Amino acid sequence: MIDKKWWQEEVIYQIYPRSFYDENGDGIGDIKGIIKKLDYLKELGITMIWICPIYKSPMVDNGYDISDYLGINKEFGTMNDLDQLLIKAEQLDIKVMLDLVINHTSDEHIWFQEGINNPDSPYRDYYIFKDSVDGKEPNNWRSIFGGSVWEKVPNEEKYYMHVFDKKQPDLNFENPKLRNEIYNMINTWLDKGLAGFRIDSITFLKKDQNFESLKSDGNDGLVTCKYKTRNQPGIEVFLNELKEKTFNKYDCITVGEAPGVRYDELSEFIGEDGYFSMIFDFKYADIDVESGSDWFKRTNWTTKEFKDLLFNSQNEIQKVGWGANFIENHDQPRAISKFITDESYQNFIGGSALALMYFFLRGTPFIYQGQELGMTNFQRQSINEFNDISSVDNYYRSIDEGFTEEEALQFVNLRSRDNTRTPFPWDNTKNGGFTNGTPWLSLTEYYPSTNALDEVNNTNSLFNFYKKMIEIRTFSKYKDILTFGTFQEVENVSENIISYYRQNNNEKLQVIINLSNQSNQINVEKNDFKVIMHNYEKVVNNNQIINLKPYEAILIEL
Ligand code: GLC
Ligand code: CA
Repeated sequence: MIDKKWWQEEVIYQIYPRSFYDENGDGIGDIKGIIKKLDYLKELGITMIWICPIYKSPMVDNGYDISDYLGINKEFGTMNDLDQLLIKAEQLDIKVMLDLVINHTSDEHIWFQEGINNPDSPYRDYYIFKDSVDGKEPNNWRSIFGGSVWEKVPNEEKYYMHVFDKKQPDLNFENPKLRNEIYNMINTWLDKGLAGFRIDSITFLKKDQNFESLKSDGNDGLVTCKYKTRNQPGIEVFLNELKEKTFNKYDCITVGEAPGVRYDELSEFIGEDGYFSMIFDFKYADIDVESGSDWFKRTNWTTKEFKDLLFNSQNEIQKVGWGANFIENHDQPRAISKFITDESYQNFIGGSALALMYFFLRGTPFIYQGQELGMTNFQRQSINEFNDISSVDNYYRSIDEGFTEEEALQFVNLRSRDNTRTPFPWDNTKNGGFTNGTPWLSLTEYYPSTNALDEVNNTNSLFNFYKKMIEIRTFSKYKDILTFGTFQEVENVSENIISYYRQNNNEKLQVIINLSNQSNQINVEKNDFKVIMHNYEKVVNNNQIINLKPYEAILIEL
């Protein structure tokens, strides 16, 4: 168990800046737009924002390809805008967290330009260059976005490595000079008074230095690079040094995007002396696909399987530290579309059931922009309508694996990262009031009926449901138990019911979610329970037996 920390009490709202609010009419969301909408976030009640990358970037992966760590991308504004944002946020008592992307840079970063254009430059060793083998790529590793991890260097029999897109060359953390540059950069940002960072793809820092090929796992002859580039032995040296040289000198929050971490090594990541404050666990988020990067491998998951993954995650994290709870982010489809399998409940009922389910788990809750409005996935008609590079890669890989174009498009519609990247619908006017210009990505077709203005004004909306949950977790008399109380699974309930207790010495709360389109029943310990929140008009019980309607969700005090 870890000691109490300030960041355990936060409710964090994730902003995808390109799609939040466009202040100057160029069709792209910007920092001034965020400033304008801080009051909306204050109204919702969140205590911290995490802003996806706003640094200089050619935007091939929408900012996760950084060409200058200390510069702000022009389309988002200026450093002065960011300073203004920090000031305004502080006035509203909202903390600010930025995204930290250090596994790779853009190929337009000056280090890479020097490194690729000049074999003798010290910057060549900032990246991973290897000789070709028999005139071909050094090995058969497949990048996360499809295709080889290797890209040929013009006029040389050499390749450079990229775990993600070819315009995102991986940094070589084996090089101490590079590591120091990164630490200085991080400290420069933390000195500005940020609350901390969400840390991108951090388990990829260490690569197996033997660079050996493995048996192929696809029709392309390649094999996912995960086995050789993700969470490899030796990564602990890099992550410990990173923490010592940077985060440990500040009282900051660090949230690791750390796929591939096994539960038996969680304490190294998030224990009392762990590398990070908390990490995201993707094991249940990716339940609809066999792996987050192979969208054509869809599963037929059940609520029981989902519950087991969710509760296992809670139990394992509780043993050693603290978790970051989420159901959506900029890499995932909309939660309602993914987890509510009966379309007739992909509305307030389904959205509030999911909300109540995850929000009161033990850990810091994250809300992704638009989640609080109950946004759902779109249906695009052609692959040309997509911006996300991984959508395009997955489309062609699916076809390569023998699926038809319609099937490939359907996989992409279900999983595309663009689903959560569509512009935020502020109202029902043209382009949802997001911009006066032409939006960089079209909105979902549903904005006339799902938008912030209507949600804020309607007392029975999902927005107001979220607002109430935040209020209860952050300011009510249940704050302590909902933040620090232990998590305990409620056993012997129907397979389709997700139920858990949060408790401390003398109080006990119970969350009950019927995650199915069938009616159900649950037996609770007392018949004089108190209902704190629920998503239907009233809770119907017969003494200790509560009758649950489809997707009914209840929080009670026992
Ligand atoms: C992370 C980001 C994702 C990005 C990738 C490469 O998974 O969340 O958006 O594409 O890393 O930086
Ligand atoms: Ca703009």
